[in-house]
Amino acid sequence: MNHSYHVNQHGHLEIGGIDSVLLAEKYGTPLFVYDVSVIRDNARAFVQTFKELGVKAEVAYASKAFSSVAMLQVAKQENLSLDVVSQGELYTALKANFPVDKMHLHGNNKSYEELEMAVKHNIGCIVIDNFYEITLLKDILANYNRDMDVLIRVTPGIEAHTHDYILTGNEDSKFGFDLSNGQADQAFRKLMEEDRMHVKGLHCHIGSQIFETDGFLLAVRRLFDTIGNWHKQYGYMPKVMNLGGGFGIRYTSEDKPLPLQAYVKALVEEVTAQVEARGLVFPEIWIEPGRAIVGNAGMTIYSIGSKKEIPGIRKYISVDGGMTDNIRPALYQAKYDAVIANKAEIPRTDTVSVAGKSCESGDMLIWDIDVPPTTHGDLLAVFSTGAYGYSMSNHYNRFPKAAVVFVENGKDQLVIKRESYEDVAKNDLSYE
Ligand code: LLP
Repeated sequence: MNHSYHVNQHGHLEIGGIDSVLLAEKYGTPLFVYDVSVIRDNARAFVQTFKELGVKAEVAYASKAFSSVAMLQVAKQENLSLDVVSQGELYTALKANFPVDKMHLHGNNKSYEELEMAVKHNIGCIVIDNFYEITLLKDILANYNRDMDVLIRVTPGIEAHTHDYILTGNEDSKFGFDLSNGQADQAFRKLMEEDRMHVKGLHCHIGSQIFETDGFLLAVRRLFDTIGNWHKQYGYMPKVMNLGGGFGIRYTSEDKPLPLQAYVKALVEEVTAQVEARGLVFPEIWIEPGRAIVGNAGMTIYSIGSKKEIPGIRKYISVDGGMTDNIRPALYQAKYDAVIANKAEIPRTDTVSVAGKSCESGDMLIWDIDVPPTTHGDLLAVFSTGAYGYSMSNHYNRFPKAAVVFVENGKDQLVIKRESYEDVAKNDLSYE
């Protein structure tokens, strides 16, 4: 077993002080359950470390990891800023009354309507990704007689993977302006000519589920090389350096992330060194963690149904969800850890593979996990499904989307209703 977890006097898995079996009975399965105190702890680890280091910072929650009104209310309470990447995420943030001045809009193909919505609501900042967007935004700002703070998203030629990073000479990415071939310089010059767009600084994001600091630090150095040039040539001084998200979390014992504080400290040290070496004014540091805020705060509870044994080869147990609520195993071969929630203390004498319910052989949640002997009706709790689980869920096979519950201080509260079949077919029109 890789995850630490609480078991109550009935031998049941507990989350946020509540019996997971009772939650499954009350709300049905599949069920996402978030321990809100873990979300708060993660957010505070980032925010407080910057504070302790005396650095002005914004910690923007990357809402793509899990966006819902309740989640964004918690983010607001924790003084986070917000990264939104679409009109839908922006709409949700507005619905949650998230402060508009703390929202940043991202996207490699922002539509006119998306940009217009951002301008109309006067959001804090738009992260400029490409030249087309500059033309669109220019038009909208003129129409609305508004100004907008912008960051320039650059591709620093570093691609970080889980355990390491590589330098990509050709910077082959759909996002941002390349640093190596003059595109970023061109974008900077163009934006400096725009009187309604104000370049607050640079943005980069080098990848996701990163465990080491080297890739981040290299990105900081590359960003400052560019800033150094702009400073010399144009006397430009950035107010903000946004270093993106990507801080890794532990799904299984194979994953060895650093404490969240360590990433912050390393970034601050490198920015300090760069600023001092180049005689610049210390900018605000912005980061955009998604997974590191919500990933390990969430779990999914499923009911076990059918079983199949291929003698000498494998035992399958099937659950009532799968790739429709967690596509990560099918899409990225992501690994998860799990426990039988109603048999959390019974010795794990069986090895099984957990299959989802979709008509797709690839719909496997976990291969070869040790569990106690199971039967239909038992509950499987999969850990660390809080990021990119519900947010990537889909209607394949017309499965309704699962419900989401928040637990905190011994109380549980439904925050996203389970979909009905009516919901699933609500946009269907008959063909006469
Ligand atoms: N900022 C930008 C510009 C991003 O593109 C992303 C993630 C983040 C922040 C947040 O990254 P995080 O801290 O959550 O790693 N669906 C994939 C992850 C895609 C991440 C996309 N961008 C997964 O399930 O692993």
